[in-house]
Amino acid sequence: MNFQLTEEHLAVQEAAREFAQTELLPGVIERDEHQKFPAEQIKKMGELGFLGMMVDPKYGGGGMDTISYVLAMEEISKVDASASVVMSVNNSLVCWGLEKYGTEEQKQKYLTRLATGEIIGAFCLSEPEAGSDATSQRTTAEDKGDYYLLNGTKNWITNGSTASVYLVIAQTDVAKGHRGINALIVERGMEGFEIGPKENKLGIRGSDTHSLMFTDVKVPKENRIGEDGFGFKFAMSTLAGGRIGIASQALGIASGAYELAVKYSKERKAFGVEIAKHQAIQFKLADMATNIEAARLLCLQAAYDKDTHADYGKSGAMAKLFASKVAMDTTIEAVQVHGGYGFVKEYHVERLMRDAKITQIYEGTSEIQKIVISRELLK
Ligand code: CAA
Repeated sequence: MNFQLTEEHLAVQEAAREFAQTELLPGVIERDEHQKFPAEQIKKMGELGFLGMMVDPKYGGGGMDTISYVLAMEEISKVDASASVVMSVNNSLVCWGLEKYGTEEQKQKYLTRLATGEIIGAFCLSEPEAGSDATSQRTTAEDKGDYYLLNGTKNWITNGSTASVYLVIAQTDVAKGHRGINALIVERGMEGFEIGPKENKLGIRGSDTHSLMFTDVKVPKENRIGEDGFGFKFAMSTLAGGRIGIASQALGIASGAYELAVKYSKERKAFGVEIAKHQAIQFKLADMATNIEAARLLCLQAAYDKDTHADYGKSGAMAKLFASKVAMDTTIEAVQVHGGYGFVKEYHVERLMRDAKITQIYEGTSEIQKIVISRELLK
């Protein structure tokens, strides 16, 4: 067992840290307050290679491993989880799904631009009545010969109005259940494709979350990913890797809050000494650091499993389940360490606390992760 990061890993980590501190930190409070999408910052992230990190360089990606991705996600998420969800969805749901299952034509047409960040993508599975119960798709993709006729509504779509390419999961043959579901590449601007209003959210407020409406959208057959009926497995397989991204996001939110708590506790004085000298605070910091270290190891284990082509369904779900709880617990305690200052925006920890919550919900709630884990255990 080797816990040593390579020179390359350390360089990626450092580049992400530097980018987060210099480019994402300024304005993060205002973007959260006004729900402003970090458009310029995302463009720069694309230029630096953070949006297609694991994609083969022949399709414009960075050709890096999943460990590098986890390290970069942690650093970006310490500062701006709204930017890191864009990074996670584009890397692990959209780029990975297309690279793994797309045709060569689809890769040439879409992946090359997604991996460089020239355009960004969205992954559209959730519906008003199909969240955790993802097989209950009401969106239909009727087979019309050389195209699918797409009708329905998708909800809570990350990059909803900023994406150019949408991977849409829809039911073609209801009699076949989940084996009758397809995954289609839908382009922004296709006739009948409408973007609904932006969601007003508790956290990750800088990210762009919308419902999407499809009314008789004609999607060419060549835009289907995989064989007819592969759509549900496409979604599950893609989400298995996506969960490593969200786990690392949760890890970053937690470690960002922890670092702020340590800094504050060395500055703030109470009862004549820095509050870090009080055991009440020391114990909180010790718990935070221990939990974060455990979350980090789970994230890296899942990344290692993926990089070594081992099964990462269980390890990814464990990483997400645990890291998202650590994010919630740590950010709540970080606010507590800051006292009244923690409750106001300037100190960042209240935002991190609000941002943490979504990591227990999207890409499979914590309860869904427990289903995935226990099914693996009891196989
Ligand atoms: N890889 C490939 N195939 C898989 C798979 C995987 N990881 N997991 C399951 N499958 C296959 C199964 O083998 C099965 O196929 P067969 O019947 O042919 O064997 C098929 O998928 C159905 O599987 P289940 O019977 O296990 O399906 P289920 O109805 O019991 O559901 C579930 C399983 C785990 C609960 C699943 O519905 C699920 O993950 N739900 C949560 C959905 C989710 O994560 N949504 C997040 C939305 S995306 C998002 O949030 C993105 C964003 O913008 C941030």
